[in-house]
Parts: sequence; C-alpha cells; structure tokens
Amino acid sequence: MSSKPIGIFDSGVGGLSIWSEIHQLLPMESTVYLSDSKHAPYGPKGKEAIINLSIKNTEWLMNQGCKLIVVACNTATTNAIDTLRKNYPIPFIGIEPAIKPAALQSKSKAIGILATKGTLSSQLFHETSQLYSSDLIVIEQVGNGIVELIENGALYSDEMKHLLQSYLQPMLDAEIDCLVLGCTHYHFLTPILKQLLPKHVKIIDSGKAVAKQTKAVLESNILLNTKTSVEPNRFYTNGEENVIASLLKSETASIKKLAF
Ligand code: DGL
Repeated sequence: MSSKPIGIFDSGVGGLSIWSEIHQLLPMESTVYLSDSKHAPYGPKGKEAIINLSIKNTEWLMNQGCKLIVVACNTATTNAIDTLRKNYPIPFIGIEPAIKPAALQSKSKAIGILATKGTLSSQLFHETSQLYSSDLIVIEQVGNGIVELIENGALYSDEMKHLLQSYLQPMLDAEIDCLVLGCTHYHFLTPILKQLLPKHVKIIDSGKAVAKQTKAVLESNILLNTKTSVEPNRFYTNGEENVIASLLKSETASIKKLAF
C-alpha cells in the first residue's frame, strides 16, 4: 500500500499550488492530480452539490489506487470533508483559510480574507473564524470571478487586476496587515497581489502547512513510500490541458484529458 500514489483533487488548477508543496516536501511520493475544471467554480454552488462533486472525485481517485487523498480545495474541504471521512476508509487531508496564523501575526489587528462564497458561508469556516478572531477586525471578501479567469488562462489580464483592486480596497481602508488567501487558486495571484498591496501586508496561504500535515499523516499511518523508485506524477483534467501545463512550468508532466 505504501508505494501507492497520493491523490489530490480540486475544482480546477488551483490545487496545483498544493501539489507543488507536497512534491517539494515528499519527492519520493508519486501523485495523481485530478482537476475537475469542467465543474469549476465550486464556490457559488450549494453544499449538497459540492459534496456530490467531492464524492465523485474521491471515488475516481480511489479507483486509481490512492492511499490518501488531499482535498486541495478550501470550498470542498469546508463543505464536504466530514462526509468523505465518514464514508471512505483512507485518510483525508483538507485545507482551510489560515485565520489562526494571520491572527497571531497581525499587529494592526485587522486582517483580510479572500475566499469563495462556499467557503465563507460554511459552518466550518464560521467556527474557526469565531475561535481566532475575537479581538480582530476581519474583512471577508468573496473572490467572484477570479477562479473563472484563472481557469480560462487569464491570470495576468487587466480584468484580473481591476477585480483585485476592487476587492482589496475595503481591506486597505481597514488597514489590514495580513491577507489570507482562502482558495488554492489564489496562490497564483501572489505576484499581482504583491504589486497591489503595500509592502508591510503579509500574504498568507496554507500550502506549506498542508504538505507538512500530509507527511505527518503518511508517517503515522506507516504509508510513506519505502521503495527506492517513484512512479511518475500524473495529472488529469476534464478541462484544458494547456492551463495545467502553463502553471506547472518546468515539470515535464504527463497531463491527460478526462471525459467525466
Ligand atoms: N480552489 C478552490 C478553493 O480552494 C476554488 C473553488 C472554486 O472552484 O470556486 O476553494
């Protein structure tokens, strides 16, 4: 079982930001990445639809023989991970907006959170937010339209820049000093955000923490690959292969088109 791959899924290409952290920390693990781009964005969908899509993705990855699944999507984690953990016998790692590190680091006691509607309206986000934000001003912003632009290969477009400017302004007015990226797609905005934000505003995402947690859970379940060889990483999408290829950069990856 330990030489089986790690499964990773997202509503699209955003989870590649998590894949790359996992690949850096665990180069001896093979991975199967599933980009459900055809059904992106998940953010505006209701809880039941997000659960059903997460089940579909999980079952597909389990059919590939995955030993553990990383839900590399805040929207799917905050709405569906409890259901997945109850129904399937393998470990799941999820991702949630990093409110706690932001709360601990903020000096101005004002933080911004950019995430999808599905994440910000979830019970899990609400509970975490209440736990850490009692002495903070938290400016929440739904990132309408961002995922669609990234999925369409328009990451560096003027439209993206204008959208971001409008989403950041209320946060800057509130003098935030930490911006939490609560959607895995948003990691790819980092170079643009750095241009738009004052230098002292920290950009916080959860990618490294997810990779560390993946390693810890593999270790505790005695699932780390013990073989000296690794199967090649595989990427599957029901959207456009070229968007994955452009975000993977140097990785000479096997990207396959899926019809589902
Ligand atoms: N990458 C997903 C997340 O982290 C994007 C959600 C969406 O498809 O709207 O939430």
